[in-house]
Amino acid sequence: MLTNDAKIIKCIARQILDSRGSATIEVEITAKLNGEEISAKAAVPSGKSTGSEEAYEMRDADGGVLQVIESVEKKIAPEILNQPLDSEQIDHLMLTLDTTRNKKNIGANAMLGVSMAVIRLEAKVRKMPLWKIISEKSRFPVGKPKLYMNTLNGGAHADFCLPFQEYILAVSGETLAGANEKAQAVFQKVKNKLDEKNISYYTGDEGGLAPRLETLDEPFQILTDCIGDDPDIFIAIDAAASEFYDEKSGTYEILGNKYDRANLILIYDELVKKFNLRSIEDPFDEKDFPGFLQIVKFLGESALVIGDDLTVTNPLLVKKYGERKCATGIIIKPNQIGTILETFEAIREARSFGWKIVVSHRSGETMDSFIADLAVGVGAFAIKAGAHTQPERKAKYDRLVEIEKEMIQDEIAEKIKKEEADKARWREINS
Ligand code: PGA
Ligand code: ZN
Repeated sequence: MLTNDAKIIKCIARQILDSRGSATIEVEITAKLNGEEISAKAAVPSGKSTGSEEAYEMRDADGGVLQVIESVEKKIAPEILNQPLDSEQIDHLMLTLDTTRNKKNIGANAMLGVSMAVIRLEAKVRKMPLWKIISEKSRFPVGKPKLYMNTLNGGAHADFCLPFQEYILAVSGETLAGANEKAQAVFQKVKNKLDEKNISYYTGDEGGLAPRLETLDEPFQILTDCIGDDPDIFIAIDAAASEFYDEKSGTYEILGNKYDRANLILIYDELVKKFNLRSIEDPFDEKDFPGFLQIVKFLGESALVIGDDLTVTNPLLVKKYGERKCATGIIIKPNQIGTILETFEAIREARSFGWKIVVSHRSGETMDSFIADLAVGVGAFAIKAGAHTQPERKAKYDRLVEIEKEMIQDEIAEKIKKEEADKARWREINS
């Protein structure tokens, strides 16, 4: 069944609430194929500790989404109605509608809702799982990502109780289901440990535990104690250093102490040496690229240096910082750039520098589990999806477990298809 026979006949957007209770949009696209109408939906997440070069998130002055709904229905819809259901073509078309550097006219959130819904609908019409069509369109082999489960929250996501924004359990395993179970069990251990120590905490934006701890080492020590000697778990952080950077003095403030670039590198290095810290996201302010460059050199193979605010899923910025060797990994967030097509480009560019790919949620999330399919479909190194305690994050982990089953079914189906084709060939040869 060719998707090109399917034509888009409807494109609408509506307001939904994200995990923070803030407004965002859900887009629904309908296509017609042989007289039958088929629809798919997609919901757009929203960040808080955003990079300044991210594509424009269109919002009303009061935080509402009326403008962006109008953008989907009045600016995008008339252009894509009656077009063939082909996600690449639709993404290309949307990019011609807004040629501003940051998608200011149409809004990256409007575009992304359409982009995600179209590729999901195309998969549905072609009766394929979403991760499989993502692999086909991106031309990356599928793979099972490590789970970056955010366990302790600080920084802008938790009133700066802890200096870094995210302390993450990076869990791998033979199966995604097994890794997921293990991540949840260790998360529970961490919770119990805080209770045992009578340390109070509340819940951070991404569902992690947000305790107030006194020293830089403490959160790392707690995670280390709970991990034990499990070889399948290491610690990752998102320092989100732009949030504790003082541009005027060029220093970084952690727990009341100010550090220049060189001293901050020593702080990270000490943590890497003391604990099983193997992945550091945004260790410096997004404009401090010499900091990134120096820490990559300094840490060498001992820990990944991951760009997020630095690179904002933008292929041009990935190229710029890849050539300068400013990172060894990248956070991929489709809403930082606005279309799935450009998301694939950013991943391709990053891989050309040998960078590890970490597909990520946003701090304001929805129940849409698209990023789980994206992570598997592009064979990402890891997926960062918060703590399973929040339904919007759990949806991603649940979907990964479901995908794993789909992958087995798919393998069986492919095998049967191949055997039948072989048999048919033999019959032809022998007839
Ligand atoms: P954000 O945080 O979604 O608020 O930007 C996540 C991150 O910094 O990785
Ligand atoms: Zn980040």
